[in-house]
Amino acid sequence: MSDIVVGLDLGTGGVRVIAVDLQGKIIAQETRSYPLLTPQPGWTEQNSEDWVEASLQALFDVTQQLDKHRAIALGLSGQMHGMVPLDAEGKAIRAAILWNDQRTGKAVAEIEATIPRQELIQRTGNPAITGFQLPKLLWLRTEEPQAYARLWQILLPKDYLGYVLTGESVTEPSDASGVGCLNLALQQWDTEILHDLNINPALFPPLIKSTAIAGRLKSEIAARVGLPVGLPVVAGGGDNAAAAIALGISSTNLNQGSLSIGTSGVIFVPCDRPIPDPEGRVHLFCHVDGGYHLLGVTLAAGGSLRWYRDTFAPQTSYTDLIDMAERSQPGARGVLFLPHLSGERSPYLDPDTRGALVNLSLAHTSADITRAILEGVAFSLRETLEVIGAIAPVHQLLATGGGARSHIWLQILANVLQTELIAPNAEEGAAYGAAILAMVGVGAYPNLEAALKIFSPDGNVVQPQANAVYETGFKRYKLLYDTLKAVR
Ligand code: XUL
Repeated sequence: MSDIVVGLDLGTGGVRVIAVDLQGKIIAQETRSYPLLTPQPGWTEQNSEDWVEASLQALFDVTQQLDKHRAIALGLSGQMHGMVPLDAEGKAIRAAILWNDQRTGKAVAEIEATIPRQELIQRTGNPAITGFQLPKLLWLRTEEPQAYARLWQILLPKDYLGYVLTGESVTEPSDASGVGCLNLALQQWDTEILHDLNINPALFPPLIKSTAIAGRLKSEIAARVGLPVGLPVVAGGGDNAAAAIALGISSTNLNQGSLSIGTSGVIFVPCDRPIPDPEGRVHLFCHVDGGYHLLGVTLAAGGSLRWYRDTFAPQTSYTDLIDMAERSQPGARGVLFLPHLSGERSPYLDPDTRGALVNLSLAHTSADITRAILEGVAFSLRETLEVIGAIAPVHQLLATGGGARSHIWLQILANVLQTELIAPNAEEGAAYGAAILAMVGVGAYPNLEAALKIFSPDGNVVQPQANAVYETGFKRYKLLYDTLKAVR
């Protein structure tokens, strides 16, 4: 019998469960999906019971494959910012409201009217943001007062799952800092902010360390999923922080951050002190290692390319499409693309901005337009990296996600960002990070630093090449957002 730990990532599309041995080898993995509910335009919800059902199924499927292995811990990670409202019996009062829900415009205005923006940024690392949990709570108070009156506690998605598994309701700093009322310097709920908003701090669960044991697996759950009764469940981290741990990114090595090109593009840079961008253009959250991290999001990164392909070239594969971009030239022969197809988070925090392809002529081809899309996403990420770099300069970014598998796009990104990129050989994501946190939580490694020495992946380095065309292109790109406001 050899020891393994289980890592679970409660995503938006589905849950992923993996079993990892103490050397980091994946022994088994399963995913299960659940529906996304969109009851009104701009609303996104999920049934927390669906999360539980899918998670228990995936845990069962994984444990079925563990004949010669013994599970010693389970670590959690998941989508951030969501709200699961619970009554005194610990039952969900309504469906969970998710990170990408946009219903809370009025609640954000209410927070801004009560707490000066600058003060909120200094204390919590972020301005009031529609997707965060705190405005969801205010929305519930105004729009569903009967539900609000029954509230015992509100939990984040992975913490709710932890509560179902163990009976203990806790949270940890990386996810809690995405709620909107965590005092970042203290890594505790900001009771003054809550007092000013007339919210009872007892609605939020207590904070423990990300590597601490949140509770122990209940017997009825253990029997259903085939894991040991009393298995330690480690608090874990929000999905971005846990995915960073899987790449070895911690606040003890400030040289390395990450860049992920999935549907959205995410830049993650660790820092050792809670210094926010004074204008709140990028997020500042706690990391899972006691430090902090800056986070910037381009909402439509791979999503921009997918939109272009689905709309204009549905028969073309992504590989062919990207190859086509090589037939254009750096600078896409003057075509510029603003990737604001879903509004934009960083550095604008503007749900109403829209995308654009500009400067087209009869001479332009689909090769130029595809190239402009790849470059526009890179320019958008550079705007964010400039804001982050002014606070925490970073020398290398580990590049992950579907977009980073294209050598052409990687080179464009390295050149535009003027940063060394590393394409890691292995990319295991947030569930793997949760498993590493669980190993530290039960003492399989003395601390996170020791664990990361073993687990950090190697990779291929992509060096930035200087190209004046990109510098000029970026200057022109930066004019687009303000210029196009007039035609919205
Ligand atoms: C981070 C964020 C997303 C969610 C999605 O701020 O909103 O990355 O965590 O899972």
